[in-house]
Amino acid sequence: MITYQLVIEGSYFSSANFDKADFTPESLICVDQSGIIDRVISVTDNDYQTVKQVAIDNNVLKQVPTGSYLLPGFTDLHIHAPQWPQAGLALDKPLNEWLNTYTFPLEAKFKDLDYAKKVYQSLIQELLANGTTTGLFFGSVDTNANLVLAQICADLGQRAFIGKVAMDNPEQTPDYYRDESAAMALSETETFIQKLAEMKQATGADLTAVITPRFVPSCTDETLQGLGDLAKKYDLPIQSHCSESIWEDQYAIDRFNLRDAEVLNKFGLLTDKAVMAHGTQLSDDDLALFEQQQAAIAHCPISNAYFGNSVMRVQAAHNKNVKVGLGTDISGGFSPSIYRNMQQAIMSSQMLQDSGTPAARLSASNAFYLATIGGAKALHINSGQIKAGFKADFQIVQDQYFELSSDKSSEIFERLVYHTNKENIKQVYVAGKLVHNNQGENNGK
Ligand code: GUN
Ligand code: FE
Repeated sequence: MITYQLVIEGSYFSSANFDKADFTPESLICVDQSGIIDRVISVTDNDYQTVKQVAIDNNVLKQVPTGSYLLPGFTDLHIHAPQWPQAGLALDKPLNEWLNTYTFPLEAKFKDLDYAKKVYQSLIQELLANGTTTGLFFGSVDTNANLVLAQICADLGQRAFIGKVAMDNPEQTPDYYRDESAAMALSETETFIQKLAEMKQATGADLTAVITPRFVPSCTDETLQGLGDLAKKYDLPIQSHCSESIWEDQYAIDRFNLRDAEVLNKFGLLTDKAVMAHGTQLSDDDLALFEQQQAAIAHCPISNAYFGNSVMRVQAAHNKNVKVGLGTDISGGFSPSIYRNMQQAIMSSQMLQDSGTPAARLSASNAFYLATIGGAKALHINSGQIKAGFKADFQIVQDQYFELSSDKSSEIFERLVYHTNKENIKQVYVAGKLVHNNQGENNGK
């Protein structure tokens, strides 16, 4: 018999498709030494008691308490790590003013590596405490600060996709915060790719470099082309913003006489490993291009309420087979919680439908799919489901109103989606390793 690193006994919710989250009662979820779910054993299986006893003997059994449930960990597809200190600030300003007055001066401070360390430690702890097991991060322009972020993710156990932000267009970036030239933007990106690979080798942490043009306006043609070439050379994921706002949408047309998505595609930046944030202004033709390229969208519904000028059409994208996951967009969005973004995704979709877009509405199950499977598919990782062969990324979540309300699984599920906050997230695991513990030493064992 395999020696497991962790066996969790409990009931769980896991999504298999967009429309439905499945409930499975009392089971043993067995995690192998490499952090993968090897088996899920149901109480009716013959060896349930034997496997449980071995897990007890090996001191690897965790029991989910009554009234709590196991859920897959979430993937956050869009986080600006250096913007964490300003989460919630100046959200009444238009995007361009917010970037120039608040965001660029803050990001420029990350040359100070002590400051970077303090901020990134706080952010990563917060994300893990909110049930986010994988994050796709924009760092800042400074390569060393991005390596600090990577080291903290390695130390705290956050699975992380991280990009050195490239921005070299003097017309759209301030003198104090930009890559000095296209050559520098590209060579620093390549240095970051190589140093991150070394760190991954040295620590065994789950870290991946991401090609990161900030967005079309902030990059010269040479940088956009060079980054497309680097993505191909190293076969790496790509992240940027696409058609976030009316301003960004129009900028691409004015400069290239092309749609924003077409510009990204022209430079080799809209691949099947690309995750483009926002997309509130994407047309049907743009969605068709995303589908053709198999590129994904990071839906950031809280942020979009401030800067997006519209609600992203999740159902339309999903119906066209475009991959969609959720992003907090710290700090265009104020909340580090994917739960809050699931709730806002649902609320915004209601408004989209009520303002005339048919069949736009999202259910709690739809939002949960985006937070789990949607994000995992965008990044090509086997996460987001509680099922043999998937990474053991979990959160143990307490139903606060268990004693007051119905015990029908579909209703428990909706309560969890709408009412879970940080205090109710008791434990979080990444690849079978405990990365956040919000209960007493021996509780939950
Ligand atoms: N577009 C370019 N940079 C940013 C950013 O930092 N946040 C958001 N929301 N949009 C952007
Ligand atoms: Fe963003």
